[in-house]
Amino acid sequence: MILGVNIDHVATVRQARRGAEPDPVAAANLAILGGADGITAHLREDRRHVNDRDVRILRETVHCEFNLEMAATPEMVEIALQLKPELTTLVPEKRQELTTEGGLDVAGNRKQLKQTIARLQGGGIRVSLFINPETEAIDSAKELGADMVEIHTGRYADARGGSQQRELKRVIDSVLYAERIGLTVNAGHGLNYQNVKPVAAIPGLRGLYIGHSIISRAVMVGIERAVRDMKALIEHHT
Ligand code: PXP
Repeated sequence: MILGVNIDHVATVRQARRGAEPDPVAAANLAILGGADGITAHLREDRRHVNDRDVRILRETVHCEFNLEMAATPEMVEIALQLKPELTTLVPEKRQELTTEGGLDVAGNRKQLKQTIARLQGGGIRVSLFINPETEAIDSAKELGADMVEIHTGRYADARGGSQQRELKRVIDSVLYAERIGLTVNAGHGLNYQNVKPVAAIPGLRGLYIGHSIISRAVMVGIERAVRDMKALIEHHT
């Protein structure tokens, strides 16, 4: 099973000062050294974290799977066709949301998605649709010619107790169904060090796309060293 690491939130920290660090491109290359099979970046319409410079240099430096997450808009399609990532994942995008809230409304945006998928595939780029764990969305993704789907695990991640088990079953059933009808299947959103195992155990799943929990852990496991390095500079300043 592959792990795609989403580096958006390295850029979120950089944007807190609108400076140069931490650089998501450097983080991507360290993630690859750590075993990441791919790097994901979501270029949002408002460029709130990842920006055009980031995706350009990521494209040049990431030699495993570069997955450009994007809304199905003409602007993003043009950018993708120039960059030529190995994969694009189409997501719904709302300006006010903190993160991608739900899967695509595939049936409700059939025409726009069909055109977008065809244009991207025409440029040699594979297309994945980020969808809720629902049969209707999976059928629509297949009908529109998507190469892959990414099943939204956010509801599973947010649920607790019996309700979490029910959400897990929906994810499992969706993965199995999508695979049965011939789609390549990934999963992601909200996965962390506590909840990832049951999802990683689903047979047939190609990969997991994880961001926030990995970046959060990186802050925690790195803080002791970072303070020690600064302390050494202060104490040995001459
Ligand atoms: N997959 C998709 C389609 C996403 O939009 C996101 C969030 O940007 C992720 C995976 C990663 O989610 P998280 O940051 O919660 O791990």
